[in-house]
Amino acid sequence: MGRDVIIACDFSSKKEVIDFLSQFKDEKPFVKIGMELFYAEGPEIVREIKAMGHKIFLDLKLHDIPNTVMKAMKVLSSLDVDMCNLHAAGTVPMMEAAIKGLTREDGSRPILIAVTQLTSTSEERMNEDLLISEPIDKVVMHYAMNAKKAGLDGVVCSPLEAGKVHDVCGSEFVTVTPGVRFADGDIGDQVRVTTPEKAKEIGSDYIVVGRPVTQADDPVAAYKRCIAEFVG
Ligand code: C5P
Repeated sequence: MGRDVIIACDFSSKKEVIDFLSQFKDEKPFVKIGMELFYAEGPEIVREIKAMGHKIFLDLKLHDIPNTVMKAMKVLSSLDVDMCNLHAAGTVPMMEAAIKGLTREDGSRPILIAVTQLTSTSEERMNEDLLISEPIDKVVMHYAMNAKKAGLDGVVCSPLEAGKVHDVCGSEFVTVTPGVRFADGDIGDQVRVTTPEKAKEIGSDYIVVGRPVTQADDPVAAYKRCIAEFVG
């Protein structure tokens, strides 16, 4: 699987996202659509951005009983998204059901990746609220292995964990990594960040970049810089 840059389109309305994407003339970036935009605008926003020629990572993080996830994934697959995700905490049977739902009649399907533990979950909260007593690194790698066992393609993780995920799950297992900032840029509310260049060195397959591109004075130039540093 080739390396690519995914722009996190964290906008709250169709107008904002279409205005933003209309600035791109020669490039058709891979874009991430999250819950905010999807819940605000519905599946039509996916069809519209797809029709503009973009690949889409639909970041809805499904987590429910296997039958419900299977049926929901079937709907997402028919929307022709390129990548989608779920919570590995839903267990291996739920992830297997997701693959079943996603797989189209011709055998094709979107890339499916798992969230292991959210980066907003501290080890303390995981221990006390979720009653999971193992160290968080061990839990993340165990969930990644479960995702692999269920037939998923990869996980969302910090770029700093991408090397370890590849060591544990193999080099073909995809790592999709947010928390990316330019060396001379603002880190904002992210804590553990890395540059596109460093993410490439560690072995991320896809970097997810939001504000460094969406809030840049020249978003197209910022996107091209990501591509040059990460892919180029
Ligand atoms: O603007 P920024 O580059 O921080 O955006 C990163 C994107 O990746 C956001 O959509 C954020 O919700 C998402 N994300 C993240 N950390 C995770 C999982 C997803 O920053 N662990």
